[in-house]
Amino acid sequence: MTDDRKAARLTPEELRSHQWYGTDGLRSFSHRARTRQLGYLPEEHLGKPVVAVLNTWSDINPCHSHLRDRAQAVKRGVWQAGGFPLEFPVSTLSETFQKPTPMLYRNLLAMETEELLRSYPVDGAVLLGGCDKSTPALLMGAASADLPTVFVPAGPMLPGHWRNEVLGSGTDMWKYWDERRAGLIGDCEMGELENGLARSAGHCMTMGTASTLTAAAEVLGVTLPGASSIPAVDSGHERMAAASGLRIVELVWQQRTLSQILTADAYEDAVATVLALGGSTNAVIHLIAMAGRSGIKLTLDDFDRIARTVPVLADLRPGGRYLMEDFHFAGGLPGFLGRLTDVLHLDRPTVAHTTLREQLDGAAVHNADVIRERTDPLAEEGGVAVLRGNLCPDGAVIKHIAAAPHLLRHTGPAVVFDDYQELQRTINDPALAITPDHVLVLRNAGPQGGPGMPEYGMLPIPDYLLKQGVRDMVRISDARMSGTSYGACVLHIAPESFVGGPLALVRTGDPITLDVGARLLRLDVDDEELERRRASWARPPARYGRGYGALYQEQITQADTGCDFAFLAREGEVPDPYAG
Ligand code: FES
Ligand code: MG
Repeated sequence: MTDDRKAARLTPEELRSHQWYGTDGLRSFSHRARTRQLGYLPEEHLGKPVVAVLNTWSDINPCHSHLRDRAQAVKRGVWQAGGFPLEFPVSTLSETFQKPTPMLYRNLLAMETEELLRSYPVDGAVLLGGCDKSTPALLMGAASADLPTVFVPAGPMLPGHWRNEVLGSGTDMWKYWDERRAGLIGDCEMGELENGLARSAGHCMTMGTASTLTAAAEVLGVTLPGASSIPAVDSGHERMAAASGLRIVELVWQQRTLSQILTADAYEDAVATVLALGGSTNAVIHLIAMAGRSGIKLTLDDFDRIARTVPVLADLRPGGRYLMEDFHFAGGLPGFLGRLTDVLHLDRPTVAHTTLREQLDGAAVHNADVIRERTDPLAEEGGVAVLRGNLCPDGAVIKHIAAAPHLLRHTGPAVVFDDYQELQRTINDPALAITPDHVLVLRNAGPQGGPGMPEYGMLPIPDYLLKQGVRDMVRISDARMSGTSYGACVLHIAPESFVGGPLALVRTGDPITLDVGARLLRLDVDDEELERRRASWARPPARYGRGYGALYQEQITQADTGCDFAFLAREGEVPDPYAG
């Protein structure tokens, strides 16, 4: 077995933080004096790796409410290994509470992460997060800073319960809200559901965006093996946090930077894993953006190519039946990856002292209902398909495994909503006479138009159709949808309508064809007519006159390139803060 503990090591004088603390100059003197002010003895920190513990804990974020304690466990590990931990509170992205969408702030947390790591005396970092955008945000920033880094995933919350039912957060919220709208359950049941949907700290316990991205982090090799599925409130989660603290100190001495781990092969493996998990469509955007920060061009075509080579093997909600705790005890990600060894790049480094191959050697699956055999997949191909056609020249995505099969090849007339407010106001108006065959179209919900691509993409089905028993329809938009959502929803249409993408030209009554098998999304209107409509189209006014929103709308890139800021995604040198 590999034993990297014999690898070449830095000397204390080669630590990045030595420039702050160890030199014979006024600035070092001042930094040492200020560290005494913090109450530390010289022997507690001088010559030791300084580890920044970036914590996204906040009172408002229920998915991260245990991270204050976990940061203590990380620090315990760092001290034990001879490092010097310093906790940095960073902004929290709460999927539930932050409006219009935490996606608007993903790049802000990425910037904060990068700049904190760069500007302070930091030798290595441990990142704590898990609620949806926090994982890509922290890793994007850390990839740009390129220090040795370990990610501590927040872990899934306990399974929800209501009466004799097991509930999935998000997924069952949508489901029972629709049951209420259909008049099938009342306020008493809703009150019980309110108490039972989310029973503990931790991120959503379906294979939603949070579980998808933390699994991606694990297969990328930036968490300890098996870390991503440990339930947030399991004592094993605290032990994993402590072990991450122990490990980061060694990674600093070895100068195992993130760029050595986040390679093109690692990103290919993350794509394959996300698709085989039947993971969230949001992962498409986030992985493209993360890869961009690693200097790797990942495209929608890569997703489509890899999707055709991997089956869906995880029977997890919203596409399947089980929850993350079941997945954990079925073998977790190591057990799951053990089923995919033929498609993975096994000889690449991770933050552990072993390669992926050694980690998966002996990985077992203990429940073949939750993690299927290759001979018994849930779907022959990966769970997300990339669509092309005249309605989405730069692509769109659909999570076809979470859609009603009869809708995967469908032509129907469009019903167009110009924005989310109009949709909410009019969707239940019988005058629209919407039938199950109609295609619901929402525009101005993209990166600039939303702004921030809110998760509006699972457009509501009209009440009167729900009461008739309709539970799925074809819906298309330039929005995203929650990783816990489901339905025949075409998402991430690029370019978005707000910047003049063809979605802007659709009119109510136009026939639209979706054919997932042919990877096609087509507006059945001839080109001359579309040109006439384009001539009379005007770009809507900018939504923000000033502030972060204005920066966002000026810099945000389209969904197919990951929605990073152009000035963050581009190549260019950044000077060492101590070079001056
Ligand atoms: Fe935080 Fe779902 S709300 S992960
Ligand atoms: Mg979400």
